[in-house]
Amino acid sequence: MNRAYDIPHNLEDGIREIAASVTLPAPLSPEKKTVLIQHIKQLLKKENAVLVAHYYVDEELQRLADETGGCVADSLGMAHFGNTHPATTLVVIGVRFMGESAKILNPEKRILMPDLEANCSLDMECPADDFSAFCDEHPDRTVVVYTNTSAAVKARADWNVTSSNAVNIVRHLHEQGKKIIWAPDKHLGRYVQQETGVDMLRWMGSCVVHDEFREDELKELMQQNPEAKVLVHPESPEAVVALADFVGSTSGIIKYAQQTSATTLIVATDLGIFYKMREAAPGKKLLVAPTGGISPTCSMCAHCPWMAMNGLENLASVLETGMNEITIDEDVRRKALVSIERMLEFSRSNAIVAETKRIAV
Ligand code: 13P
Ligand code: SF4
Repeated sequence: MNRAYDIPHNLEDGIREIAASVTLPAPLSPEKKTVLIQHIKQLLKKENAVLVAHYYVDEELQRLADETGGCVADSLGMAHFGNTHPATTLVVIGVRFMGESAKILNPEKRILMPDLEANCSLDMECPADDFSAFCDEHPDRTVVVYTNTSAAVKARADWNVTSSNAVNIVRHLHEQGKKIIWAPDKHLGRYVQQETGVDMLRWMGSCVVHDEFREDELKELMQQNPEAKVLVHPESPEAVVALADFVGSTSGIIKYAQQTSATTLIVATDLGIFYKMREAAPGKKLLVAPTGGISPTCSMCAHCPWMAMNGLENLASVLETGMNEITIDEDVRRKALVSIERMLEFSRSNAIVAETKRIAV
């Protein structure tokens, strides 16, 4: 069985409106940026703090995280790094669920974020109460949730997964004869179901960025660049995933770009990833896969509005003031920790299992 549970559509529309109207940091002059970067470097030392950034945030934030001994990673790598680094303050430059994961794993540390309003449509489309009621209706199923969810949803889950280990974890559950509930991303859920054959009940959330990639326009771009390989994040629609040479997480996409002999790559994920892709695969031609409409008519234009809320000014400000600290109810944190720890333990013991690849590099 592969049934889908429909989320109310008005919720989905409302979230797209919120996404299109977030307040972005004001543009800064090069002089102001230089001053702020020096200031942040001093504050990081003073506060015994380290930056933990996602591949989708602005290039200058990724560079600053690298230069100051922090990390730039996918959501799994961010969780690993924060959990092993000795700093007493982690500044998570990404979106809310990433800060919450850091707090769940590191209750003794102070977790700050440049903007606590930086959210994720997947998280917002999966309210904990509705989800919990849905799970209660299916007590025979193992509950698997994508990491792009709130602490309360993780607390209701048996397993937490990221896009880099979802297929392997669900395959492992399927081999044990488990039937699952999957939430919240419908596209990733469908992809995981197809790859593993598991019996899945699927929540119908979607990512405002990846949901916009378009099949017909992508086919046109492929015709214009017949030598190009197509790299797709599995939060994208089925027809787009079907055109991919490689399907995988952000870290998987960067690794593929580095290892392939192809010199032109079409990429269906947030364009913030181009900074690390250029570093990993210098000289290769990187093209962003087409989205619904052409700027300025596309609504997200392959860039997550919530990731874009992070900037140098709000980063300096949280380090100065200690504002925007992540706090989580201790009971919720302990329950959520179980599903995250299971995933981390699984990925430690299965590190040699490579991500699914459609075509060999
Ligand atoms: P990764 O786990 O691949 O970094 O993806 C996180 C995310 O939010 C993708 O949109
Ligand atoms: Fe969420 Fe999509 Fe933004 Fe990733 S890119 S944080 S899935 S809204």
